Amino acid sequence: MGLKILGIDTSCDDTGVGVVELAPDGTVKVLANRVWSQTVHATYGGVMPELASREHVERIDSILGEALAEAGLSLGDIGAVAATSGPGLVGALLVGLMYGKGLTQALGVPFYAAHHLEGHIYAAASEAALSAPYLALVVSGGHTHLFDVPQSGEYVLVGATKDDAAGEAFDKVARLAGLGYPGGPAISEAAKQGDPNAVMFKEPLKGQKAFDFSFSGLKTAALLAHRAGAAPADLAASFQRAAVQFLVGTTVRAAESYGRKTVVVSGGVAANAALREAFAATGLKVVFPAKGLNTDNGAMIALAGAAALHTGRAASPLTVGAEAYAPL
Ligand code: KG4
Ligand code: ZN
Repeated sequence: MGLKILGIDTSCDDTGVGVVELAPDGTVKVLANRVWSQTVHATYGGVMPELASREHVERIDSILGEALAEAGLSLGDIGAVAATSGPGLVGALLVGLMYGKGLTQALGVPFYAAHHLEGHIYAAASEAALSAPYLALVVSGGHTHLFDVPQSGEYVLVGATKDDAAGEAFDKVARLAGLGYPGGPAISEAAKQGDPNAVMFKEPLKGQKAFDFSFSGLKTAALLAHRAGAAPADLAASFQRAAVQFLVGTTVRAAESYGRKTVVVSGGVAANAALREAFAATGLKVVFPAKGLNTDNGAMIALAGAAALHTGRAASPLTVGAEAYAPL
């Protein structure tokens, strides 16, 4: 029987609690993953930070209860607690962070503060053991970051978006095409009926030597095509192809440049089927998180905690605070 680690993420508008089991040989298994996705923000067209914090406070007890029930455990079985300390909305982060610290005090177990992006990367440990070196592409609604991971726990930023995050671009294009929210799944669904050659998109940052990303040009081109009468399905299919080609092309160039054969792709946009197909065709070993672990969740934070424990990282002091901006 391995150590049971509880993970908590309240960095934005999802209340996530997960449980993983860490075996002595480092093997991990996700025992539970419960997420409450807040709906109160829908009428505002964006996340309202104060409402997010209040919802986390209201939901966290019951989501913890659901996670323990799913894992078939009681609180006394938990051997360590990990919670996200940043980056994210400070008020929202504070709820899960303080809750996690309180639990460790009550249970007398170690506490691990986790970085949200490290959590996204370790979400892929649900599918395959992550052994460095590898490249990690985190593509979500708030982040588009490409890291080189020369050894476990060491992150070198290789590229990042200069404007919108990839998921944000999916959301905005879906909104202008009237496809609904969240935009990623809506674009992906609509694209099935569309022609990817209907709208021509120019490759962003064409000719760059670096490995950065940019989505504002694609977004503007989508707006112009929409105004010119492009059908929503065609727009979705064409935009998705352009975004996927850009993400995959840039990552493949970086993998060649850094001599990496393995790429971890995680974050909400990693759920995209077209992105997964395009990566599968690259010849690289590509690891995606298991279903349900792409978007924000607590299990990914428990997996980051498991990696910290297994590699002998010291537990975090309870003085650790929430940080809105925290480089990995
Ligand atoms: O990781 P996540 O839950 O939140 C952040 O930390 O930002 O990612 C949410 C983002 C949203 O922008 C959503 O539209 C996008 O991930 N997303 C997708 C898909 N599913 C979710 N984008 C493209 N295709 C999908 N299937
Ligand atoms: Zn996230």
